[in-house]
Amino acid sequence: MSILQGKIAVVTGAGSGLGQGVAQAFADEGASVALIDQDIDAVEKVSENIKGRGGIAISIEADVGNEISVPDAFSKVRGSLGEVDILVNNAGIDTTSLLEDMSLDLWDNMIRVNLRSMFLCSREVIKGMKGKGWGRIINFSSQLAHKGAPTMVHYCASKGGVLSFSRALAYELIDYGITVNSICPGPIDTPLYMDIPEEWRAAKERSLPIGRPGNVNEVVPTVLLLASDGGSNYVGASMNMNGGDVMV
Ligand SMILES: NC(=O)c1ccc[n+]([C@@H]2O[C@H](COP(=O)([O-])OP(=O)(O)OC[C@H]3O[C@@H](n4cnc5c(N)ncnc54)[C@H](O)[C@@H]3O)[C@@H](O)[C@H]2O)c1
Repeated sequence: MSILQGKIAVVTGAGSGLGQGVAQAFADEGASVALIDQDIDAVEKVSENIKGRGGIAISIEADVGNEISVPDAFSKVRGSLGEVDILVNNAGIDTTSLLEDMSLDLWDNMIRVNLRSMFLCSREVIKGMKGKGWGRIINFSSQLAHKGAPTMVHYCASKGGVLSFSRALAYELIDYGITVNSICPGPIDTPLYMDIPEEWRAAKERSLPIGRPGNVNEVVPTVLLLASDGGSNYVGASMNMNGGDVMV
């Protein structure tokens, strides 16, 4: 029996990297998956691939930081698939700048895409999950939320916010059978990571006990666990697959 059989899942940022891997794994485990991304061509490709393997998927174009496009996207999900059981808030961005040189726009956009999106998307699914007495909200933070990093103050602040957001929401929802948890990966070989300046990546990898970035397949199994019945005792947890960068 597939562990997500009959579940309805939303994965944001499903057009690339970790979101793509999670969406494909969810569909392989029997979930119907709505793939949300601002890059519609990318999510169309992922959704066609899932359907080609016999899975159920729809793709929706939306900016997860936008208060109009998010409710619109989730009403499309409800109309096509039904009330959501599992939400993976994965979409995120990364940029680098010293704080003293950072523009207000760079700061605001980071918080908008990485943190405001958690609020906008989670708010859309809670009533439906409460109605079912079951739900899973899985939020992508980062190991940098624990550790910090130069030139990424805005990114680290957004991801620290994700951890606190998830813990507080976990308290609000556990009585309704809904768990909320965070994923805190170390460097993972995706387009987002490869866009970081090479010098930064080389220094990071030299300091990593594992000596290399992780790959998508080293993150997906933990997301599957949290999304399934087997993950029911994880409440407000931060899951740390980071090659030993932060040993907690
Ligand atoms: N790759 C890493 O090393 C790493 C490490 C720790 C945490 N993370 C986190 O994991 C998540 C996924 O990262 P990834 O490495 O797969 O990145 P990625 O760049 O490969 O994929 C991100 C996806 O999100 C989409 N996206 C970006 N902004 C969006 C918006 N405003 N609205 C809708 N979609 C949007 C992009 O189009 C893209 O398809 C992010 O939250 C990231 O911060 C990544």
